[in-house]
Amino acid sequence: MNLESLLAERLAAAFEAVAGRPVDPVVRASQHADFQSGAALGLAKDLGKPPRDIATAVLNEVDLSGLAKAELSGPGFLNLTVDDEVLTGEPPHIPRDPNPERIVIDYSGPNVAKELHVGHLRSTIIGDALARMLEATGHDVVRVNHLGDWGTQFGMLIEYLAGNDHGQASLGDLTEFYRRARVRFDGDDGFRTRARLRVVALQSGDPTSRALWQRLVAQSTTSFMDSYGRLGIGLAPGDFVGESFYQPMLADVVDELTAKGLLVESEGALCAFPPGETGRDGEPLPLIVRKSDGGFGYAATDLAALRFRAQELKATRLLYVVGTPQKQHFRMVFAVARAAGWLTGTETEHIDFGSILGPDGRMLKTRSGDTIKLSDLLDEAATRATSPAIGVGAVKYADLAGDRRSDYVFDWDRMLAATGNTGPYLQYAVTRIRSLLAKATTAPGPVRLTDPAERRLALTLLAFEPAVTAAARKREPHRLAAYLHDLAVAFTTFYEKCPILKSEAALRASRLTLSDRTGQTLTLGLDLLGIEVPDVM
Ligand code: ARG
Repeated sequence: MNLESLLAERLAAAFEAVAGRPVDPVVRASQHADFQSGAALGLAKDLGKPPRDIATAVLNEVDLSGLAKAELSGPGFLNLTVDDEVLTGEPPHIPRDPNPERIVIDYSGPNVAKELHVGHLRSTIIGDALARMLEATGHDVVRVNHLGDWGTQFGMLIEYLAGNDHGQASLGDLTEFYRRARVRFDGDDGFRTRARLRVVALQSGDPTSRALWQRLVAQSTTSFMDSYGRLGIGLAPGDFVGESFYQPMLADVVDELTAKGLLVESEGALCAFPPGETGRDGEPLPLIVRKSDGGFGYAATDLAALRFRAQELKATRLLYVVGTPQKQHFRMVFAVARAAGWLTGTETEHIDFGSILGPDGRMLKTRSGDTIKLSDLLDEAATRATSPAIGVGAVKYADLAGDRRSDYVFDWDRMLAATGNTGPYLQYAVTRIRSLLAKATTAPGPVRLTDPAERRLALTLLAFEPAVTAAARKREPHRLAAYLHDLAVAFTTFYEKCPILKSEAALRASRLTLSDRTGQTLTLGLDLLGIEVPDVM
């Protein structure tokens, strides 16, 4: 049930009768009543009448029977109080989007031969939460892990691997391996030349180079899957579609863009110049599609991937969960794709997000200034919390609870706190409800509202649907997190004010139902965010 939209529907009819045209009644949850409509205030100028008169006319017109009572308030607000009978509610369920789409969601996207690090944490967590929410609300979701598994750096890595067989080095060693290959590359002219030839060999399908490359990719995949498993991320090896996958399509992408007159030659490179895009110097900024040496880069691959997802995967919407620094890159890629005619019937969205900061307010790093490996972070989460589920839940919740566009400071003590807007607080609310229900020897029964705390809890339970809808539609997991926190707070107050197991039979049955529904709603909501609840805390 979506109380907000039920109320809005009834009010919309009355407002339309009064204003003579359709009006959004702007129904919002309120501190002064259950809900409030402030639409009369916005109509005053238009209708040439004081807002209170308009609100009074709406009040005379509106039919809220069986749903709520309305009352005029202040300068022209309508305060709405929902009837108790409506608040007896129903078990929670996830709303379906009336317009299901086929959505490709590109998230995580780590780079091969480098371990997952804290820089990929937000894309991984936010992307996974969005994929879960969109899938649960009825969309056909295709998860894509756009692995950085191609490019000139592989020449260096393969050449180093060819000459220094480290056997089945773990990827932990490969990070070190990457570093050593880099040192060699920077300091040895002969090696550098061989590394460049390796790139050519790899690209032309030389079996030895290909086999070495495959080993790097396979070892990285194992390591990524290990981290995803620990983090509870729903990416399977089948969702890994690396940059290499699109290589065979690049020449054709260039041909098509050239034929459509979208590329110009600039210093030997083939570039697109999307209108309005300028660099720091104010000069038009090129999107380099083919480099002067004939090679292809990040942008060309993204163009090919976009065309593939729109045309072959038949996506109606493409989501890219990638940090804010790549905003311009995606804007330019989308502009070129649109000009090429690849986006008819397909929408694109860059789901950007801010950075994770250290206590000093700068990008989170280790004490020595290195990037933090995700596996180390997860080890620390497990040691600091009493169980991995609590540690991981705390990290994920802290990331999802704030507006994704904002930076946030990574603070173990705050995210692991048992009270406040934290993962452990919500997990604890669920385990407390579970043990309460396990202790009950009688069955739950019909809901009866006898105390304001019960009423508040019942009202909050009914706000689950609109919270899920808003979080999924706006791609803002924090809306769902904020709702779940409100619900846990409403439950805590109810639990303190209203005895459950010790109250008389009918009241006990009602309160058991309210508790049960709270537990179910919190569990469902946390699952949409990708957060598990441990059995005990
Ligand atoms: N591998 C890239 C990086 O580490 C992220 C890939 C994002 N996805 C994309 N389609 N460009 O920055």
